[in-house]
Amino acid sequence: MEFDLNDLIYPLFIKEGSGIREPIETMPNLYRHSPDTVIREIKECYDWGINKFILFGIAKIKDVNGSSAYSEGNLVALTVQSIKKQFPKTTIITDICLCAYTSHGHCGILDEASFKRNEELTQEVLSRMALSHAAAGADVVAPSAVLSGEVGAIRHRLDNNGFSDTAIMGYSAKFASNFYGAFRVAVNSSFDANQRRGYQHDYNQIDRALCKVEQDIAQGADIIMVKPALSYLDIIAKVKTQFRHKLAAYNVSGEYAMVKSGAIEGIWNEQKMVYEVLAAIKRAGADLIISYHTKDVARWQSGEKYVS
Ligand code: PBG
Repeated sequence: MEFDLNDLIYPLFIKEGSGIREPIETMPNLYRHSPDTVIREIKECYDWGINKFILFGIAKIKDVNGSSAYSEGNLVALTVQSIKKQFPKTTIITDICLCAYTSHGHCGILDEASFKRNEELTQEVLSRMALSHAAAGADVVAPSAVLSGEVGAIRHRLDNNGFSDTAIMGYSAKFASNFYGAFRVAVNSSFDANQRRGYQHDYNQIDRALCKVEQDIAQGADIIMVKPALSYLDIIAKVKTQFRHKLAAYNVSGEYAMVKSGAIEGIWNEQKMVYEVLAAIKRAGADLIISYHTKDVARWQSGEKYVS
């Protein structure tokens, strides 16, 4: 099955301020935007036929509780509100995690004594964050903290506040991966894969990941996810055949940077490479693909001669 532009979700990074369009050092051709300039970016993408976006907030002020992630009128909520007002037909997904907002860089609130995540408190603030995005108009919230019970807690909070129509996409099979390095620079989270081994799945132990998929579905996830994608095609295929649930795959930052750098170095033809990668992810069983190449694909598909 061939991929289609409608299967692709384009990630956008939002930073506080105005007039910002700042290149991301590790991800050529991608930018951090402020809420005003991201509207221009969305308009351009929308005109190219892209209609699904996932938003990541970059905190200006970080603290131990990651409070700017879920405070009243938080950055992502305000951005969603203005996007939905101007582009009501777009599907807006928001990432629900604290790692870009906490001073320690962990995906949650830590117990002072053990330095492990406090599950109850973390569930509480993740649900608060999700509710603030849903209330602002997000169509889908995507918990990515790999915390047990996160999907159920968010579903419960959304339902109790009149947002039963807001969908949940769980980053269910999310592996501790070296392919996230480029993203961590993008969101200014200085962390390496090993530090999240406690909760992200070990790539040699897929049972735990499959278990989280099962839990997320049971707790009401409308979409589940395998992440990364390109180096985890076997997991995508396995999850699809085993669960037959709507499935997204995240073609992550390192996978993007790899293809992009090779193209910049003249090692290979970028378009051919991107098409082969996306076709493989689709063929493995993904219904949706989060891809940093989305804008490139849209331009290539429009037939315009386009060099990124
Ligand atoms: C937040 C989050 C991460 C990514 C997406 N959401 C970083 C991480 O878990 O370390 C990585 C995405 C990418 O590499 O493109 N938890």
